Amino acid sequence: MAVLSGSLSCFEQMDDVQFNHWTSLLEKRTGMHLPKERRSFLETSLGLRMKEIGIQNFAAYYQHLQCEKNGEKEWLTLVDRLTVHETRFFRHQPSLDFLEQIILPELFNSEPDRKKLQIWSAGCSTGEEAYTLCMIVDQFLKKQLKNSHCYLAVTGMDISIPALVTARKAIYDRYKIRHVPGEYLEDYFVQQNDGRYQIIDGLKKRICFVPFNLIDMKKTLLEPMDIIFCQNVLIYFNRDRRKQIIHQLVQRLKPGGFLVLGAGESLNNPHPELEKIEFPNSLAFSKKML
Ligand SMILES: C[S@@+](CC[C@H](N)C(=O)[O-])C[C@H]1O[C@@H](n2cnc3c(N)ncnc32)[C@H](O)[C@@H]1O
Repeated sequence: MAVLSGSLSCFEQMDDVQFNHWTSLLEKRTGMHLPKERRSFLETSLGLRMKEIGIQNFAAYYQHLQCEKNGEKEWLTLVDRLTVHETRFFRHQPSLDFLEQIILPELFNSEPDRKKLQIWSAGCSTGEEAYTLCMIVDQFLKKQLKNSHCYLAVTGMDISIPALVTARKAIYDRYKIRHVPGEYLEDYFVQQNDGRYQIIDGLKKRICFVPFNLIDMKKTLLEPMDIIFCQNVLIYFNRDRRKQIIHQLVQRLKPGGFLVLGAGESLNNPHPELEKIEFPNSLAFSKKML
């Protein structure tokens, strides 16, 4: 077994036993499924992190992660390195059209005097999805309903603490806001002296970002949601985990509420309490009424 040294190519190679050890640990704690083809990704990611903190081999690092004193903190860093945070504002237009054209009219038609609308962005990464949802709903409330009495609350949740720190800062590079339509950019962002864009306080205060593990949802005490977006997250879990997660999401949805998944996330018989809603290029469900 090659010992970790200065160059990337000299990172320790993992044997099958070690690979199984690491992937089981990851699966157990995060639900993340790493297939064999991703072994070199795992070796490199672990190797880079071990190099940063001066740990020489996988076994010592594994032990370090079990250690009560520093292991928990290190685990959060490692999870951040192993998870994919790719996201962007207005990422999947068909799902957003579905929100604007179907979900919002439906929720407000069925309850015109609604005082509160609660939305969940599960696996929100660095915040772009949660802010996008908040902007769209805010526009809807102001322009379509002229309803200022409905309180909008969006909760963004993710397992990655560094991603949530970025989300809470709400400051994005010019490149990051390239997909934001002009009217939204004008209404919800202010350009800073350094050229970056900050979300306005009026929008920021509607959103709360919290650390959260999708496979540990039983521990979260949350009011049932009207809308849950969980996009580009389930692809990282195996079929059983996906099923468990969907089940938990359904438990946190109000009857008549909507669950919007990533369009490519194939789900066979997702849940008996869900009814699929047909809308082009999207994968969305409503929770059946009792
Ligand atoms: C590819 S991003 C998707 C971001 C956003 N939903 C979107 O579609 O643009 C996936 C996010 O899921 C988060 N994630 C992965 N496993 C998770 C878990 N067990 N619990 C909560 N979040 C998780 C990752 O940290 C990452 O930020």
